[in-house]
Amino acid sequence: MTKITPQPGIMDIAPYQGGAAHIDGIANAVKLSSNENPFGPGDAAKEAFRKAAYDLHRYPSSDHSALRLAIGDVLGLDPARILCGAGSDEIIAFLCQTYAGPGDEVIHTEHGFGMYRISALANGATPVEVRERERVTDVDAILAACTDATRLVFIANPNNPTGTMVGEAELARLATGLPDRALLVIDGAYADYVDGYDGGAALVEARDNVVMTRTFSKLYGLGGLRIGWGYGPAHVMDALARVRGPFNLSTAALATAEAAVRDTAWVEKCRIDNTRLRAWLAEALAEHGVPSDTSTANFILARFANQAEAEACDEHLKSEGLIVRRVAGYNLPHCLRITVGDEAGCRRVAHAVGQFMKVAR
Ligand SMILES: Cc1ncc(COP(=O)(O)O)c(C=O)c1O
Repeated sequence: MTKITPQPGIMDIAPYQGGAAHIDGIANAVKLSSNENPFGPGDAAKEAFRKAAYDLHRYPSSDHSALRLAIGDVLGLDPARILCGAGSDEIIAFLCQTYAGPGDEVIHTEHGFGMYRISALANGATPVEVRERERVTDVDAILAACTDATRLVFIANPNNPTGTMVGEAELARLATGLPDRALLVIDGAYADYVDGYDGGAALVEARDNVVMTRTFSKLYGLGGLRIGWGYGPAHVMDALARVRGPFNLSTAALATAEAAVRDTAWVEKCRIDNTRLRAWLAEALAEHGVPSDTSTANFILARFANQAEAEACDEHLKSEGLIVRRVAGYNLPHCLRITVGDEAGCRRVAHAVGQFMKVAR
């Protein structure tokens, strides 16, 4: 018997399951399973990536100053309080590593993003799941679940996989009501899709217990490069910076993200297309008898009569070359999460769901 054993919590982690990318025997499957931007990055970002090829023998910047300046410039934030990571996943990991350990509690919501639980367990902390109200974050339930041991409260706003969000007043009420030692993390992976929403930036500025996380993986179309960032009060960002590896982002990632954030025209085009196609897709699914909550992100959570119907629909979509996401692991076994694709992708998935529903009911 080996005496080599992982730290407490590690073996309780159910490894994260990413969205499937292939269907056996189908060459040109449409991937609508990982909330990627179907249009990819803009030309400026692609050009920056190409140019980075000539510098691959050099270590990257370790302070990320050019990217932090660009983000600060475009979004009106203080670059000194921006911290970049290999995806916002890494910022979530830094937060748990820095603030949560054995005996500490990390709150996430019932249908919250899976990495909150994984990162909490990876650091020996105890994840605490709080129920939502009809697939919407419930601030009162979170406040009621807080204890002296609460160190972090993760809210994705908009939330994945529900697509719903809570208003800024509710977030402020949550931040105000937290125990003294708890930090509110507003995960804004999908905030860029919401016109006029700052992802929680104003609340970060107003308080000393709020951090927001953001990503280049969704609207900016750079999921494959792994770039995210966090923004918070100086005392938090200073602590997080101490656990960050000096070269956690590659030269190519830094240069491409900088070009992407400055290319506001491309980002705006993608946001507008997503809003239009999301409304069309939700309506088309509803006409086929498949309801969904109003989504504020780049995906729709389609609700079926039960788990068997959702799974059968998924099988039918697969047979038509369409990959969507089962979300039983998020306590939503009767749902499928469908990323808003390009126009052709949306039409194909709506048509295939319609075909299925005609036979199913
Ligand atoms: C709510 C939420 N937060 C964070 C992430 C992590 O994204 P990334 O690490 O690519 O920035 C995702 C990815 O799907 C997400 O849905």
